[in-house]
Amino acid sequence: MKFGYDFLNELKMRNDIESVISSYVNLKRRGSNLIGSCPFHNEKTPSFTIWPDKGSYYCFGCGAGGDVITFMMQIERLDYVEAVKVLAERVGMQLPVDGEEDKLSKLKSRIYDANRAAAKFYYERLISPEGKEALSYLTGRGLQPKTIKQFGLGYAPDEWDALVKHLKSLGFTDYELKQANLVSETKKGSLIDRYRNRVMFPVIDLRGNFIAFSGRKLREDDYGGKYINTSDTPVYKKSANMFALNFAKNHCAERVILVEGNMDVISLHQAGFNMAVAALGTAFTADQARLLARYSDEVIVTMDADSAGAKSTDKVLKILAEAGVKARILRLPDCKDPDDYIKKYGATRFKALLDGAVSDIEYKLHVASEGIDMTLSDGKIEYLKKAVAILATLHDDISKELYAGKLSELCGVSKETILSATEKEAARQRKVTVKKELNDIVKVTPSRDAVNPEKALYPRAVAAEEHLISILISHPDLYEDIKDEISADGFVTEFSKKLFEVVLETLSEKKSFELSVLGSDFSPKEIGYVSMLQNTMQTGNDPKRVATESIEVIKQEKKAKNSKNLSEMTTDEWAERMKSLADGKINKG
Ligand code: CTP
Ligand code: MN
Repeated sequence: MKFGYDFLNELKMRNDIESVISSYVNLKRRGSNLIGSCPFHNEKTPSFTIWPDKGSYYCFGCGAGGDVITFMMQIERLDYVEAVKVLAERVGMQLPVDGEEDKLSKLKSRIYDANRAAAKFYYERLISPEGKEALSYLTGRGLQPKTIKQFGLGYAPDEWDALVKHLKSLGFTDYELKQANLVSETKKGSLIDRYRNRVMFPVIDLRGNFIAFSGRKLREDDYGGKYINTSDTPVYKKSANMFALNFAKNHCAERVILVEGNMDVISLHQAGFNMAVAALGTAFTADQARLLARYSDEVIVTMDADSAGAKSTDKVLKILAEAGVKARILRLPDCKDPDDYIKKYGATRFKALLDGAVSDIEYKLHVASEGIDMTLSDGKIEYLKKAVAILATLHDDISKELYAGKLSELCGVSKETILSATEKEAARQRKVTVKKELNDIVKVTPSRDAVNPEKALYPRAVAAEEHLISILISHPDLYEDIKDEISADGFVTEFSKKLFEVVLETLSEKKSFELSVLGSDFSPKEIGYVSMLQNTMQTGNDPKRVATESIEVIKQEKKAKNSKNLSEMTTDEWAERMKSLADGKINKG
């Protein structure tokens, strides 16, 4: 779907960027700008900046940026058309009726439809005679019919192509089925069902779309892994979704229970803990941490009670801490996972565990004590060393006091000694962190220019190109003058060339340039870069003169580039060029 200039203009006027972004980010006013902590990466000092008068934003930390439409695309993971739809709905605007629907969003809506039809098919097979074994598997694991229906569980029949045939009879094409990842292709090129003889768990997103499936085998000796999951598709990114968050999102404001398995989630919901979710057959990610943080104040981490579970608890805690999310750990005594626990001890006891879930520190102290014989002095010393390293990560003195007191009682060493050892350890840890941060800065700096990698080779050219483009964006009245002086082919670097082309093309049709035009052809980082140019480039009070000078520089640089291909230069020539570049840096303004 293509939207007209007037429609988009009104859409943006009515969805002012400040009010849209403030429902995702806590904003503070700074001069005429607003700043906050970036929702696209983890940061301690806010570097996410909004220019309300220009309707754009840019994060100086991660480079994300754009306008209100690209913000919706990035934060809700929508494509361009979907983002426009959401914004239109937000302010009650009618979408323009005619117009051809954008290809990608059309495919996405076909995939949603195919998945929904597949889920219905699997459910019907489950409650048919054919699904008898699968159904008794599920009821045998304690699920009630009501629960099976709520989660839309199903059965993929033990046939090669039952689903393929069914969906094709509904008019879905091979291409659509492949894109949905519902099928596999045989060597001969025919399509077969990806899930056969499995119980099926649909994954539903927060807007109610069926986006993926997880299929568990019924018998140990069936084909494939215990679970087969949908790989990433145009509508599904595993690492950024959570199983059952669609059900939990309205019940988890206070706390969300994070477990490992689908079956754990379903059991918990059935027992009344409808704030449980699971990662989707992958390791827990930072994206998922941020997603949970948007719906919940606290995450109760409840991994399986085996060594793999303990390992993943550590990783999850680290990721949550980095995302600034509060976490507690629920340890399950003598049973393998939450599903098992509920069955053995019932919901009331699980509730008691939940209310008593321990803090991060208590959990770590507990883990540190495992396998140490505390009746021996050596054991106590070994434990105290580990414990002090854990206390050193605390930032508030009250907690330090409290735990030092507890340790003192436990080990018979004075609280003061434990506290001073903790301070020493904290100082050591700070040194290590500072060193690591310095290293990280060094590593990060070159990638800042990942958008235009040629900047390192042609800094003077890129400076001129950026000046010219930002002048053109902020002074569209100079369009006629500029386009007669230079074409995109006259540009030195590829990224500038591509951008200049789009800006020229837009201005040939419209009165002004909008970041959202970059929509699908540019990455969020690239759009961010342009937003940054637009907002921070100083082009002085005689833009026409700066434009002329910039064009002059671009032409010189282009000539120099053409006269000698860099790859053909000798080392000396190369050094010579680098030196002249360093000396001849264009003066800004
Ligand atoms: N998982 C997976 N692929 C596997 C094994 C596990 O994707 N081969 C994912 C699934 O999402 C599963 C979760 O990891 O739900 C936890 O694994 P596990 O504890 O083995 O599965 P449960 O859901 O507990 O399965 P069950 O209780 O049926 O054994
Ligand atoms: Mn499990």
